[in-house]
Amino acid sequence: MKTESLKLVCFSPTGTTKAVVQGIARGINHCNENCIDITRPGARKQSLKTSEDDLLVVAVPVYMGRVPALLGEWLQAIQTHNTPTVCVVVYGNRVYDDALLELKDMLKHCGCKPIAGAAYIGEHSFSRSETPTAEGRPDARDLKHAELFGRKIREKLQSFPSAGKIPEVTIPGCHPYRGDSKLWTVDFIAVGNECVQCGICAEGCPVGAIDPENSALIDTKKCITCCACIRNCPNHARMMKPGLVMDASLRLSTLYNERKEPEFFV
Ligand SMILES: Cc1cc2nc3c(=O)[nH]c(=O)nc-3n(C[C@H](O)[C@H](O)[C@H](O)COP(=O)(O)O)c2cc1C
Repeated sequence: MKTESLKLVCFSPTGTTKAVVQGIARGINHCNENCIDITRPGARKQSLKTSEDDLLVVAVPVYMGRVPALLGEWLQAIQTHNTPTVCVVVYGNRVYDDALLELKDMLKHCGCKPIAGAAYIGEHSFSRSETPTAEGRPDARDLKHAELFGRKIREKLQSFPSAGKIPEVTIPGCHPYRGDSKLWTVDFIAVGNECVQCGICAEGCPVGAIDPENSALIDTKKCITCCACIRNCPNHARMMKPGLVMDASLRLSTLYNERKEPEFFV
């Protein structure tokens, strides 16, 4: 079948999920491509509508082995009927548990037709130079893999006359889903004197947890510990305080230093 447009949806606080989705898009090589980045709260105010003639790719990071709970509402509101859909999760070299299956189930529930799925590895959000986990990933090898996956998706589409005829992809995993959809509520960010109140951290926060007038004020109830503000700070003024997240960073770096490889299901 021929598709009229490629719609790429991603939530990507620290950019690794977006890099993977762009790699997949290069492989699909569609002339009419549209990226819908739902990382910022404003972008999630608008819902998505797709048709049978579109190809939809939805990519999210894995949080505690699950699809980030804050995306549930937006994902469930997608208006679609039989849109061929590719489900992608990106995880920090620990595990993705049943997050890919959960994403597939969510998208199927709103009328999508899941035709392929994949799990990629991105540098862990808690990774620091002192305690790195999956540093620099996705790297060139991962992105080549993503392009290959994109080409496989295109081939699969081309080998069927219509969306209705494409078989649904089988994703491994189990119900009830493993992992935990509840995130930590923790005060873990220290703001140094280098902070010039430029507001970049508040602007890039996916949940609006940082006060734009005073970036040292963080609403820990809203914070999802994504670490985007640490990564985005041009003055390196934001860092982890000793405690739960810093301990996790050390633990991850020690326990998950063996390279995991991406997987796809077509
Ligand atoms: C709250 C939280 C929970 C996470 N849980 C997991 C996990 O269960 N397994 C894993 O391998 N990585 C986990 N990660 C790491 C992210 O999945 C990974 O770094 C991903 O590449 C981040 O995507 P982004 O760069 O698009 O934000 C977690 C990250 C955060 C912030």
